[in-house]
Amino acid sequence: MAELETYITEHESRFLEDLKGWLRIPSISTLPEHSADIRRAAEYAVLQLQQIGFEHTELISTSGHPLVYGDWLHAPSKPTLLIYGHYDVQPVDPVELWDSPPFEPTIRDGNIYCRGACDDKGQTMLVFKALETLMNVNGALPVNVRVLVEGEEEAGGESIEAYVKAHPERLQCDAAFICDTHMPAADIPALISGLRGIIYTEVEVHGARRDLHSGSYGGVAPNPLHALAIMISRLKDADGHIHVPGLYDKMREPAQVEKDFWQQDPLHINEALRTEMGVKQLTGEAEYPPLQRIGARPTLEVHGIAGGFTGEGAKTVIPAVAKAKISLRLPPELKAKDVFPLFEHAVKEVAPPDVTVTVRNIHGGDGVLVSPDSPPMQAAAAALKEVYGKDPIFTREGGSIPIAALFAEILHAPVVLMGFGLPDDNLHAPNEKYSLDQFFKGIRTVVRFLSNLGQ
Ligand code: BES
Ligand code: MN
Ligand code: MN
Repeated sequence: MAELETYITEHESRFLEDLKGWLRIPSISTLPEHSADIRRAAEYAVLQLQQIGFEHTELISTSGHPLVYGDWLHAPSKPTLLIYGHYDVQPVDPVELWDSPPFEPTIRDGNIYCRGACDDKGQTMLVFKALETLMNVNGALPVNVRVLVEGEEEAGGESIEAYVKAHPERLQCDAAFICDTHMPAADIPALISGLRGIIYTEVEVHGARRDLHSGSYGGVAPNPLHALAIMISRLKDADGHIHVPGLYDKMREPAQVEKDFWQQDPLHINEALRTEMGVKQLTGEAEYPPLQRIGARPTLEVHGIAGGFTGEGAKTVIPAVAKAKISLRLPPELKAKDVFPLFEHAVKEVAPPDVTVTVRNIHGGDGVLVSPDSPPMQAAAAALKEVYGKDPIFTREGGSIPIAALFAEILHAPVVLMGFGLPDDNLHAPNEKYSLDQFFKGIRTVVRFLSNLGQ
């Protein structure tokens, strides 16, 4: 271990430079004008894998953005670990709120600021650097490793889903490792025991055939924006309950240990949440503790509403069309494919009769629950303890990584969700950052995780 430590210390600055080079590529998967950047970011990952000594490195073309694959399978009788990451990032708007350019990695106060700094280039790069360290110090890895990195995670991840379903034999593994999650605080190591699924939809409301003068028609014309406001307020009430008939039917009772943890909140996460968000009080279903609301309850959020007039000054118009982006987060027992029709039905039920409504399913994915008892989880827990000096907590997170459920289901492999993000990393928001300390501790932890797995 001493030699591995030395290697990491000696190569810190180059590790960072390699990360910065990747971060400078604006690989935004949801914007078509960035498809060349997406490709460059994928090629950058291929090069990283080749430099480490990975074989069968490949840019796999898909109907969407390319997948990156590479393997090193020279540890006979040792388990095979499938490592997943994503090289795509979210858009950067509102760009004026960034303190440094979103694609110029900038170091301030021990953090690296850039879109993707944490999610997920920073976290994927630390895994690459752990692999490099093991390979260069020992000339081999302690386990067999396949790496699969996707470029569509932030856009729904359809291509990787198709690939995993079509070629499970190429991804054969004994465990999967996803480095794309958080710890509750820099001194509280965590393994994630569950993630929520999601359905992401667009609701479009049509009134008159064209925009209308609000004096000449106000009083008789349907207003799609107002209709949308009525519908949204009916879909979720002020107490956070969602009025989608059937939604809660298949909910399962969480384990008692989880309920106790949420209720007792030994880490005072409730208070931390309030200060971190800068809000007067938390919202949502008061009868459930906040950690349960985030980790294990369904939620419905409106992400944006478009329509009508929002420019300078005034314009007296009744819009013909309004749209809203609405998503639901789902505990693992509620499946995206079952919930979308329920939601669509509910939207139509709450729509005023004077408008026409369509509901489009933009993307979806299922949540996952993982057992803390599997040998790979134990190997990860031991690694975290070695680096952070204490046992990790097992906790659910509210975000979604749809591929996690698929790895579990199709590859029959236990999934380890171990990431080094911190709650204030500003994922998907202006000034995304990653703690450099977490980056280097992450490398050390992953080195130990793989070593433990190979024992
Ligand atoms: N890394 C996140 C998921 C995440 C966030 C896990 C916070 C745990 C804590 C991932 O990149 C992400 O943003 N996923 C999307 C998925 C969606 C686009 C299908 C999400 O959760 O919104
Ligand atoms: Mn991510
Ligand atoms: Mn993300």
